[in-house]
Amino acid sequence: MKSGKITILGIESSCDETAASVCIDGKIFSNIIANQSVHEQYGGVVPELASRAHIQNIVPVVNTALQTSFPSANLHNILKTVNAIAFTQAPGLIGSLLVGSQFAKSLALSLNIPLVGVHHMQAHVLANMIDDQKPSFPFLCLTVSGGHTQIVVCDSPLVMKVIGESIDDAAGEAFDKSAKLLGLPYPGGPLIDKYAQTGNPDRFTFPEPQIPGLNFSFSGLKTSILYFLEEQRSNNENFIEHNLADICASIQQRIVTILLNKLKKASLQTGIKDICLAGGVSANSGLRKRFEEMGKKYQWNTFIPEFQYCTDNAAMIAITGYYKFKANEFSDLSVSPTARAEW
Ligand code: KG4
Ligand code: ZN
Repeated sequence: MKSGKITILGIESSCDETAASVCIDGKIFSNIIANQSVHEQYGGVVPELASRAHIQNIVPVVNTALQTSFPSANLHNILKTVNAIAFTQAPGLIGSLLVGSQFAKSLALSLNIPLVGVHHMQAHVLANMIDDQKPSFPFLCLTVSGGHTQIVVCDSPLVMKVIGESIDDAAGEAFDKSAKLLGLPYPGGPLIDKYAQTGNPDRFTFPEPQIPGLNFSFSGLKTSILYFLEEQRSNNENFIEHNLADICASIQQRIVTILLNKLKKASLQTGIKDICLAGGVSANSGLRKRFEEMGKKYQWNTFIPEFQYCTDNAAMIAITGYYKFKANEFSDLSVSPTARAEW
């Protein structure tokens, strides 16, 4: 090792955040994220625009992540201390992934250091290993993002198994699509959260899908919200404006209940009581609150990553890269990103 320490530069570009982070011996020294506001006007991420924005953002974001971690050093000397480049290999938008992976490959080649391909969903889970207070193995993780909803058993940093997942929409999509029906801009999840804070969650009732085992389904919820709004608006065209907080609180309560009922079932089935949240939706205040309440009730040890490590970020890629580096799990320069990937 160059300085006796393991220094990993992590790069994330799977969707619409360009991010870079430096991890030294398992501790995060920088977490730089460039968001892409260009998508707001389109009501969702436009892949072509995302790729272009990544190309514009990647050099300044990586530069800032390195300079922030070593404030008094020059870039040339900083790069000499990096032991490996970790990057998001899958899953995600292929054009976006290509920008991060090509950048990572080129830098690894020019510095003559190893490359570590990282699975984005595994990295979301390992965001729980960033804090000093870490879960013990085996732990359960409910990973809830814009593209995935999964319950994972994590036996060690690199051994994980998905034991439940959504058969249709992800929880984040359920938030975003519901928000769209309410006329809110993309991404609507944080806005539903905001309006829900002053609303009555018991005012409107939406159905809970009956899906066997530990799997989830959210597409029926979206349809029931659509029909509900159509019916209410046929009587009162200002129904949404007049009841926004209560509608948001009721939708949020339903999504959170669906998620936590399955998590409770997973804990009972596996006997595991160290339980984590991960992914963008774990930023949701209603989910966080009820997860903590459930934890107290069932004597779980609960863990939620810091807010900046819940939504897409490169610190989770860097820490996963750190564990893979220690296990000698490297990728060669012929590695290609893939939009979908089992793990
Ligand atoms: O993990 P993430 O940043 O990106 C993916 O990998 O998908 O998750 C993004 C998702 C979006 O659907 C967004 O609406 C949702 O996380 N989200 C929230 C909140 N913050 C982000 N959903 C509900 N409440 C929030 N506070
Ligand atoms: Zn994500």
